Amino acid sequence: MKSQELYLRSNVIAQPLFQGWYAWAYLIAPATAAMNIEGRHVKIMQSYVQAPMIHAAACKDPKMTGGPFMDYGGKRLDEVKTLLRSTLEEQGYMVTLSKAIKELTRMLKQEAKGYSIELLYEKVPDVLRGYVELFYDLSNAPGFRFIEPLLYRSKYYNEAFQSVSLSLIDSDHRPFVLSTPVLGDAGKISINLPFRDKVLDEFFMMNRVPGSFEQICSRLDIMPEQQELFRSFFTEQEPEPYEKYTGEGARLRYFGHACLLLETADLSILADPVVSYGYDAEVSRYTYNDLPDVIDYVLITHNHQDHVLLESLLKLRHRIKHIVIPGGGGGSLQDPNLSLILENIGFTNIIELKEMQTLKMNGLNITGIPFLGEHCDLDVRTKLAHLVEINNKKILFAADSCNIEPNMYRLIHEITGDIDVLFLGMECDGAPMTWLYGPLLSEDLPRDKDHSRRLAGSNYQRGVDIVNRFNFNEVYVYAMGMEPWLKYIMAYEYTDESNPIIASNELLNTCKSRGIRAERLFGEKEILYKTKPVLV
Ligand SMILES: [Fe+2]
Ligand SMILES: [Fe+2]
Repeated sequence: MKSQELYLRSNVIAQPLFQGWYAWAYLIAPATAAMNIEGRHVKIMQSYVQAPMIHAAACKDPKMTGGPFMDYGGKRLDEVKTLLRSTLEEQGYMVTLSKAIKELTRMLKQEAKGYSIELLYEKVPDVLRGYVELFYDLSNAPGFRFIEPLLYRSKYYNEAFQSVSLSLIDSDHRPFVLSTPVLGDAGKISINLPFRDKVLDEFFMMNRVPGSFEQICSRLDIMPEQQELFRSFFTEQEPEPYEKYTGEGARLRYFGHACLLLETADLSILADPVVSYGYDAEVSRYTYNDLPDVIDYVLITHNHQDHVLLESLLKLRHRIKHIVIPGGGGGSLQDPNLSLILENIGFTNIIELKEMQTLKMNGLNITGIPFLGEHCDLDVRTKLAHLVEINNKKILFAADSCNIEPNMYRLIHEITGDIDVLFLGMECDGAPMTWLYGPLLSEDLPRDKDHSRRLAGSNYQRGVDIVNRFNFNEVYVYAMGMEPWLKYIMAYEYTDESNPIIASNELLNTCKSRGIRAERLFGEKEILYKTKPVLV
């Protein structure tokens, strides 16, 4: 190694930001970004400025976890006021777009009465004209779709507001990102560049391949006064080399939540990448250091922020050969096209998998399995479970699939036959609809209706019905958001009395009583699949 060549430390956190807020997929797609700026960011900032201590108290109350409360202990008011002011000044056109989307919905509801919809194009709010197609469904209810590629080429997709905030992380605590903006401080460096910029790959590559500090400073335009702090993000120490799996069959490793790495001697597959940085912590885990240099296929189950985590995807982009996503996204507001989101943040190798379609690879098949529910009864198509077949072993990664219609699995079973291994999420309480989709609504939803339409996974009955159907040998409950390093994107607080814990315990007990190997995963786990599965 040349004297000037350094490695990026494993605990350098790189948070993608959009106008100071943690960037998730809905802040990339222009229409959902506009509505979240107006209906989430501005609202929360205005509320914090008015009553910061109410936010401080709510953030200390576990019952309020994940609510619309900013986690700055009632402090940093001036900075929040500045961010609010700049948001209102610089995002005014996005707020206008958000209002126009709501107005279009109202106009169609009032005026589209079953006659030709063509005349109503004149009544589309000016800022939306040309960007939407109007239609009726077959019961004559009106609707519209965005022509999303045009929105991405308009002022409504402005990369100038994208940045990456770099700092060191040494504990699992991070504020909940849907409610708390990322304010600057002495330990952070903000890099203003579009997420698609390949310079980010050069930077993240330095985790494994040493590079010149001077060169990366110049590539990222690090100001001279920030170079000392920036230097602290690097080390001369080489990371532990990654040991690729070279044995028979496959090795499966659980990285937390729904993130699983499946490796054979020839291929590596990473499901729903949500990965921890490397630092000393109580709960042992696999980290970015435990991922191969080349990830052949990333599999995405659905477009919730705990499954499409831009922070992990951007960090791994240079290692990912293909990213397999659920085909969907026909331009509806609630289901932005995931392929466009990923293309616009620099992915070029996207494969859209459809329901019951099979991707055949070197000795390994992946079939898209329909995924119902968990989206508050909204028409969202960007969701798939994955059936992975390797060495005659079949593994179903079901993620947050909610078995609201057992007949669907009866039909699927007729095609797939029995399956050996199930991974199932059982977050069966789920947040009410407005928690995630509230900013997109054009009309308020009464509380009782909101609470009846939840982001809930399978409960005991629904889980046991899947178990009964496919005759599994192994059942793993996962995707529960239990790991302490994930609270910043999910904000779950479980106790032994929480319904998802009771329901999953019950399912595990039922499985065990039938001789099925069963476990709720937490932290880390390694499973080997040779001729017969071997638990380590
Ligand atoms: Fe989900
Ligand atoms: Fe989830």
